[in-house]
Amino acid sequence: MDCLDNYRWKLGNHELVPLVIGGMGVDISTMELALEAARLGGVGHISDAMACLVSDRRFGTRYSLSKFKRYRQESDRSRYRFDPGELREAQLRHVRAAIDRKVGPGLIFLNVMEKLSMLDAVETLKVRLTAALDGGIDGLTLSAGLHHKSLKLIEDHPRFRQVKLGIIVSSLRALEIFLRAAQRSQRLPDYVVVEGPLAGGHLGFGEDWAQYRLESIVDEILAYLREHELPIAVIPAGGIFTGTDATRFLQTGAAAVQVATRFTVTRECGLPAAVKQAYFRASEEEVVVNSASPTGYLMRMLSTSPCLDSKVEPKCRLHGYMLDRSGDCAYVRAWEATPKGQSVPGKMCLCHHFSRHQCYTCGHFAYRLKDTTRPDDQGGYQLLSAEHVFLDYQHSREHRICLPP
Ligand SMILES: Cc1cc2nc3c(=O)[nH]c(=O)nc-3n(C[C@H](O)[C@H](O)[C@H](O)COP(=O)(O)O)c2cc1C
Repeated sequence: MDCLDNYRWKLGNHELVPLVIGGMGVDISTMELALEAARLGGVGHISDAMACLVSDRRFGTRYSLSKFKRYRQESDRSRYRFDPGELREAQLRHVRAAIDRKVGPGLIFLNVMEKLSMLDAVETLKVRLTAALDGGIDGLTLSAGLHHKSLKLIEDHPRFRQVKLGIIVSSLRALEIFLRAAQRSQRLPDYVVVEGPLAGGHLGFGEDWAQYRLESIVDEILAYLREHELPIAVIPAGGIFTGTDATRFLQTGAAAVQVATRFTVTRECGLPAAVKQAYFRASEEEVVVNSASPTGYLMRMLSTSPCLDSKVEPKCRLHGYMLDRSGDCAYVRAWEATPKGQSVPGKMCLCHHFSRHQCYTCGHFAYRLKDTTRPDDQGGYQLLSAEHVFLDYQHSREHRICLPP
């Protein structure tokens, strides 16, 4: 029987185990998780979502407080700004800390969400991308957006042609839009993550998401790349729960797979211990797709997520990662339209709830996580090591999942 370990992803000079741990913001895919993936020869992601807050928590910086103080008295949200110098420092510190500690043959990539508009979408994205390149990141995975301007922002950087570049898409159409932009910078992406409708986090599909199949989108994109002789690695993602699920994609031409949900219950994952237990306990009925995120994208999460009964006042002076240039955000609008003290119908404050891990986003198969471990002696489930889950994907055959000792 075939297994993932029979394959390698050849990416430039690297021969990688074809397993990528996807980016999970806010610091859910921690550097500790990414470092394990790299040590074991695969690819791990850190995420730059809420970079200033993550730096404050990890490194004791005070960027959020400094921003809050600047805007304490300011009532006009369109005047809030992220200090580009502080944003750069936060990003650089995080990336450097991960890259400096990296050992082993694998790589560390950064997940960069375009939808984090941060009051000045273009400028803040440029700062984040440039700082990541300066910090020595191995690869940039562009996510949550079409990124038709992103490459232009960094095309003059000395590492632009050396860093590995990829984008997450959910359709051939989105890939074509990006490729047209990439042509203008004469820089093809090295890889494309094709994220299907069963993934965790935001979805690149509308309400009809259930009608799509990852396998069909991957086949369509593989055929397109072959027809146009484009040497871009294809990496399916979303609902790949066993090594055998992964191997099937490798057999039909994918270069690697990206996974996330199975790593949410590892010790290295940044979720609090109680939230990891909530993931373990989840039933199939509790895994829902809704439009609570103010990004405009649908998101998959557990219906037990505390964010779903949100009445919090928007914390934009402190955070404000979702605000556009005019100081607007779908949650702020919904909150202002809701009588005080009542739950804001259908929307959550992404910054507030993600900063507190109160949005339990997960892939469709989160309800199977309990089958990947054993009960502990406190009535819960044993956490796993990232190494255990990684090696299980790499060596498992016939959908068998290896339980911890
Ligand atoms: C907890 C969690 C948070 C996520 N956050 C992000 C994110 O910030 N950016 C992103 O591009 N994808 C995000 N994703 C999607 C994953 O990177 C990945 O592509 C997808 O979940 C793979 O499907 P799987 O979870 O079924 O393995 C997240 C997924 C999970 C489970």
